[in-house]
Amino acid sequence: MHRYGEPPAGRWAAPGRVNLIGEHTDYNDGFVLPFALPLRTVVAAAPQDDGRWTVGSELSDCPVEFGADEVAAPGRVTGWGAYVAGVVWALRDAGHHVPGARLAIASDVPLGSGLSSSAALEAAVLAALVDLGGVDLPAERRPRLAQRAENTYVGAPTGIMDQAAVIRCRAGHALFLDCRTEAVEHVPFDLAAAGLAVLVVDSRAPHRHADGEYASRRASCEQAAELLGVAALRDVPAAGLDEALARLDGDEIRRRVRHVVTEDQRVLDTVELLRAGRIRDIGPLLTASHASMRDDFEITVPEIDTAVEAALAAGAYGARMTGGGFGGCVLALVDADRSDAVADAVTTAYAGRGFHAPNFHLAAPAPATHRLP
Ligand code: GLA
Repeated sequence: MHRYGEPPAGRWAAPGRVNLIGEHTDYNDGFVLPFALPLRTVVAAAPQDDGRWTVGSELSDCPVEFGADEVAAPGRVTGWGAYVAGVVWALRDAGHHVPGARLAIASDVPLGSGLSSSAALEAAVLAALVDLGGVDLPAERRPRLAQRAENTYVGAPTGIMDQAAVIRCRAGHALFLDCRTEAVEHVPFDLAAAGLAVLVVDSRAPHRHADGEYASRRASCEQAAELLGVAALRDVPAAGLDEALARLDGDEIRRRVRHVVTEDQRVLDTVELLRAGRIRDIGPLLTASHASMRDDFEITVPEIDTAVEAALAAGAYGARMTGGGFGGCVLALVDADRSDAVADAVTTAYAGRGFHAPNFHLAAPAPATHRLP
């Protein structure tokens, strides 16, 4: 933790997340099912009298400092400090008073691995500033504000899933989120009781053109919705998919639409199974989601496909890429006593292909953003 001259007023923790299923559905007003990870970002904070913000991070030798000018308009602070300045900007833009503060950041959420290190940073900073400033901002309204920081201040056109996950998840549960209405259901997901584990494989594949590809997938979906005369692809029911596809010209746009529509249905089917306590049975849905991302949405890379195939061959009930794609992580649903064997199988497959050795985490649903005692 960055050194303070005096003790901080408090510490706030925000988790990373994995998404169990529902990829690239959030910005199509659809459904997602993430859960919070035990990996987390902690922000220690204290008021700063001059009305400015000073931010130190374990990961950087150089503190970032900014004042009212830099948060008067988006984009004036760049690099990792933009996520912090973006939160200050979004709070002020929503009419809240944000006191000057010193912030010190420590995190064990790996950066750039698709586990939402940026949403964790935004959520922890937001919680700290809201508490320090005595701002009245209920948890349900925080994800949109953190998303604005990322969309408008940082300039990344992401959906609502990551911020909603890290702010609204609950320990022991997955978060079934309707991204249009922001209605949530906390679906019990007790892996340990079922003798199961979720093994997260960090592919360590470099994110290749991830930003541009993400924006282009989003643009294709919006174009398709317009051509189909619906507000968003969420409005195409699975039963009406063939008819919708017949109205579109071109194989690529049809495949993009098929991914989103079938993925929304897989989320609904997964939730049904979890409500019935049938965790093992969601495996085939996870694997089908992966095939759809690989073949229809075309957002996987060889390291990711290799991890999924090796995990399945080693006995995983299901496996899929999680997150935005073009690198990042795979999750595999495995018997708890098989997680080492599955990890070894993935490591061996990577060595055989000459890839960087992957990293592994065991994921069980952890608490959302909160103030530490
Ligand atoms: C990234 C974005 C999310 C979501 C996922 C894909 O994580 O931040 O909003 O679109 O990709 O499901």
